[in-house]
Amino acid sequence: DVIDIRALSKLGVFTYDPAFFSTSSCTSQITFIDGDAGLLYYRGYPIEQLADKSDFLEVCYLLLKGELPNKAQKDEFKSVITRHTMVHDQLARFYNGFRRDAHPMAVMVGVVGALSAFYHDSLDVNNPQNREISAHRLLAKVPTIAAMAYKYNIGETFMHPRNKFSYVENFMYMMFATPAEEYVPNPVLVRALERIFILHADHEQNASTSTVRLAGSSGANPFACIASGIAALWGPAHGGANEAALKMLEEIGDVSRVADYVQGVKDKKYKLMGFGHRVYKNMDPRASVMRQTCYEVLKELNLENDKLFQLAMELEKTALNDSYFIERKLYPNVDFYSGIVLRAIGIPTNMFTVIFAVARTIGWVSQWNEMVGDAEQKIGRPRQLYRGATRRDFVPLAKR
Ligand code: ACO
Repeated sequence: DVIDIRALSKLGVFTYDPAFFSTSSCTSQITFIDGDAGLLYYRGYPIEQLADKSDFLEVCYLLLKGELPNKAQKDEFKSVITRHTMVHDQLARFYNGFRRDAHPMAVMVGVVGALSAFYHDSLDVNNPQNREISAHRLLAKVPTIAAMAYKYNIGETFMHPRNKFSYVENFMYMMFATPAEEYVPNPVLVRALERIFILHADHEQNASTSTVRLAGSSGANPFACIASGIAALWGPAHGGANEAALKMLEEIGDVSRVADYVQGVKDKKYKLMGFGHRVYKNMDPRASVMRQTCYEVLKELNLENDKLFQLAMELEKTALNDSYFIERKLYPNVDFYSGIVLRAIGIPTNMFTVIFAVARTIGWVSQWNEMVGDAEQKIGRPRQLYRGATRRDFVPLAKR
């Protein structure tokens, strides 16, 4: 049931809903979630079908433009994105300003925001053509920027994008290749990363997307808005959860310690990372796909007996049979499994949230684009419930 309460503000009445438990901030035609039933659709298409049958760029086209592309549209889109993958030489020099041991998410916030200093046409957001080219630039350049953040972090040479590769292969090439040897992508690992990208591409009005929309509602340029989304994603309650989930598994260390750890969660000493979701009160449909992908990747790499995976399975079994988790409707979310897959692919833990940011860029851009084109959308301006001091007179320093 939806109650449109905007008219109440004219009567001086407003509602208090600090974490937006029951407040819609917009209308949207992009992503549908039914948290009780565990459903997720992009533009009406179930996530399971997209993860199984589609590829990431096709999903990007769908999210951005509303329909799946035909063959000619798909080829044209791929060619446009491929043409924009390089970054300006001056932008590459930004990296030297960061410490080598900086968290790659810190680098992402800075460098993606800095794109606004290069593309002045992006500043006029009311022109749909400008919005479209900004969307293409972001989709194309964010993987390059992310791979450069990694290479800088480990002190290796930046690898320029290669047009012969698919979007996901190219990202893996820029991450893992070195000038010394030819890089041959493993199709099973490429497909796994492609799935991770598809599953994370959009998730309606989560914290980072809402941040992008709020920043964009003031008319700010898309690069600055996406940088704000990256900042919001960084936290362990959101995009940082896969990094936190893997660290948690490493900390537990052995299957024999699972029961003790779960007891600690029930005693509220800490949370079970990769469990729970604001909207899903049933299995996260992305988690089921990711769980299957886990099996495929570990089999391909002969890691079926991987200790952390065994531990994760034991933790999952223990939690799903425990009344604490059952009563609170806490199920594994996508991040419970994605960390294991990313680690097996060879992606270091501090890059996990960056991978999420690369995948979510299309969701942020599509939501931003939808909002800017929505005549109903004004500048976002939450109200507050003031609980501070009442009026009082200034006290001079000598009398305080
Ligand atoms: N472990 C243990 N208990 C939990 C967990 C958890 N992961 N998540 C929620 N709970 C408990 C809470 O302590 C609370 O218990 P109470 O009723 O006894 O006080 C109850 O479940 C309800 O939890 P809330 O905090 O109200 O749920 P909220 O919707 O605010 O939080 C969130 C959702 C942030 C995702 C939370 O479940 C969490 O922190 N999970 C771990 C981090 C994580 O995996 N985040 C990824 C989200 S998915 C994504 O970004 C792709």
